[in-house]
Parts: sequence; structure tokens; C-alpha cells
Amino acid sequence: MHVLLTGASGFVGSHLLDQLMEQDVPTTLLLRATSSRRFLQPHLDRVRVVEGSLADGTAIRRALEGVTHVIHCAGATKAVRPSGLFAANQQGTRNLVQAINEREKDVECLVHVSSLAAGHPATAERPAREDDPPAPCSVYGASKLAAEREVREGCERPWVILRPAAVYGPRDREFLPLFRLASRGWAPVFGGGRQQLSLVYVKDLAQTVWNALTQDAVRGETLHVAAPGPVTTRELVLAIGDALGRRVRCVALPWLVLRAAAVGQGIAGRLTGRAGILTHGKLREVQAPGWVADTSRLQARLGEVCRTPLGAGLRETARWYAAAGWLRPPGEVNRRTTR
Ligand SMILES: NC(=O)c1ccc[n+]([C@@H]2O[C@H](COP(=O)([O-])OP(=O)(O)OC[C@H]3O[C@@H](n4cnc5c(N)ncnc54)[C@H](OP(=O)(O)O)[C@@H]3O)[C@@H](O)[C@H]2O)c1
Repeated sequence: MHVLLTGASGFVGSHLLDQLMEQDVPTTLLLRATSSRRFLQPHLDRVRVVEGSLADGTAIRRALEGVTHVIHCAGATKAVRPSGLFAANQQGTRNLVQAINEREKDVECLVHVSSLAAGHPATAERPAREDDPPAPCSVYGASKLAAEREVREGCERPWVILRPAAVYGPRDREFLPLFRLASRGWAPVFGGGRQQLSLVYVKDLAQTVWNALTQDAVRGETLHVAAPGPVTTRELVLAIGDALGRRVRCVALPWLVLRAAAVGQGIAGRLTGRAGILTHGKLREVQAPGWVADTSRLQARLGEVCRTPLGAGLRETARWYAAAGWLRPPGEVNRRTTR
């Protein structure tokens, strides 16, 4: 077995690489010259690195040399313009799939990391199922759905599409602001904090990707990946407080505040050429009643793979943030606030 991993410099991809290194699997990374090596450093002497992007067919073909399995995790989650999301997610996936199809020696399996956003918003009363007609409510979701179609309709080799729910864990920067606010004793909630979310701990996702890569039973399937049982955003904020050993006050804010922030980030993004995460599309995702995934197919095919209880995952995340200097250590938060 020899795995090509894309997106290894990112949050999820770096954990996938940890998983591959733990399994001692020969691995090639496709990295851009500008990609951060920060979380890859411990493994760089054990992997083959091919420099290039998903827009560079020659680099992709070089990266595929000697490869038997592919994990496609690279993807853009934000961009200054919608076309940037489609270029990275759809066109990038198309280029990879074409190169896989062209290979003389067959690739045994492609695991494509998609997103729950490629489906549709849903609540616990009627969680989203993999076979539901897709109805993404953001450009990001539409670009991930378009990428899925490139795999489903274009890939001539066995494939698996995984749709993770919101991913949290060490190295993640999306949930970090919430941890930072909670560590100060308050956090904003919108829409009364009632939005329902499925979540997945990043190490559980890495284990699931590995299982999907190595088990023939899931070839040709699309699977949601999430821990069982959704939480509301209010419950999540309180659970982050518990993980930090901190009582957190939820401050209900009107949507207008978030809309204003999205407009501000949009203007700043166009002026600086740097995308913020709070785009108009993201706003539609945040305002949806919920992103709850039915995970019965995942459990039927791969068993109880997402086992980490929310509290344990959040505590490990908080500890990592503190050790990395991204957050004040939980003990220190307590001492300062009880003085
Ligand atoms: N985080 C979540 O909650 C979540 C939930 C569901 C699905 N996902 C999916 O999981 C994947 C990884 O997400 P993440 O949260 O780890 O994001 P991330 O930290 O932003 O990492 C994205 C990775 O993709 C690479 N990439 C982006 N555009 C590229 C391009 N045009 N060519 C080559 N590489 C490119 C980035 O490389 P550089 O370092 O060079 O920028 C980076 O390695 C994505 O496909 C995302 O859609 C994430």
C-alpha cells in the first residue's frame, strides 16, 4: 500500500497524516510551495513530498507515481469570490480524478473528503440522509457537491465519499474564537442558540477515513461522518465552558450583528484579497435551523467509529490550545477569574 494524501497541511489533513504514520504506511503528500509545514514537521523525513497544487496536472501525475490508494482531503472552505471555491473544490477534484483514470497501474481506492454542507440543512426531528436530494444553501456547499459529482460520475476506480459534520479538535482554528470567548466567561449565541449541530472529533474522523480506505464493503458509498446525537449551539458553548472549567454566560445577539460582520468581512476580503470565513454563504449555513446527520449508514458499514464523547474531545482540544499557546491554560483561567 502507498497512499497519496492531499490537503495534509490543513487541520483535518494533518490528523490524517498522523493516522497514516501511526499505521506505518508509505505516503506521498501533494503540497503547495506556500503550504504550511508546521504540523507535518515530525513526519517530513518519512514521506515523499511532491510540490504543486490541484490545478497542476503534471504535479498530480507525479504525485500519483507508485500510489495504490488516494485520500483527497484538500479543499477550500473560504474564498474571496465564489469562483475560487469551485476552482479548488470542483476543478481540483476533476484534475485529480482525471489523473487517477489515466494511470496505467490502477489505484485501488479513492477516499474523497466532502462535507455535510453538500447535502442540506436538517434537524434532529428529520436528520439528513445520504440519499436525500441535495440542496446546499451556500456556495461552499454547492462547490463540495460539484466535487462529489466529479468523483461519482467521473472516477473509473473504486471510491468512497465521506461527508463529515463540523469537525473540532487540536489544530482547528474555526472553533478557536468560541473557546477564547468562553475562556473569558461569555459567548454570543444567535437565534437563541437553538441551531442543532452534528459534530465529529478530528481523531475519530481520521480513524473513519482509514477504515473507509481499507474496507472493501464501502466502495461506491457516500457516508455521513458524525458522532451520534446532535447538540444545540447553546449546549456546545456550555460544554466548551465545562472543558475549560469555566462558567460561561450565553449572550443572545440578533442576526443583524452577524450580518453586519459578514458585510464587513466581505469588503475587507475584496480589499485585501484575503478571504474571511464569515461570508454571505457562511451566514446562510449559520442561520439554518440545523446541520444534523443521520449516521445509521456509517454505523451499519463501519461500526461505532465516532466514539469520543463531546466532553472528552473538547477537553483534549482545550488542553492542546493551551499547550500551543493559542489559549490561556484552563487552570490559569480559573485562578484569574476566582481572584
Ligand atoms: N473543518 C471542518 O469542519 C470540515 C467539515 C466538513 C468537511 N471538511 C472538509 O475537509 C477538508 C479539509 O478541511 P480543513 O478544515 O482541514 O481545511 P484547511 O485547514 O483550510 O485545509 C485545507 C487544505 O486544503 C489545501 N488546499 C486548498 N486549496 C487547495 C488547492 N487549490 N490546491 C491544493 N491544495 C489546496 C490547503 O493547502 P494550503 O495549506 O496550501 O492552503 C490545506 O492543506 C476540506 O475538503 C473540507 O471541505 C472540513
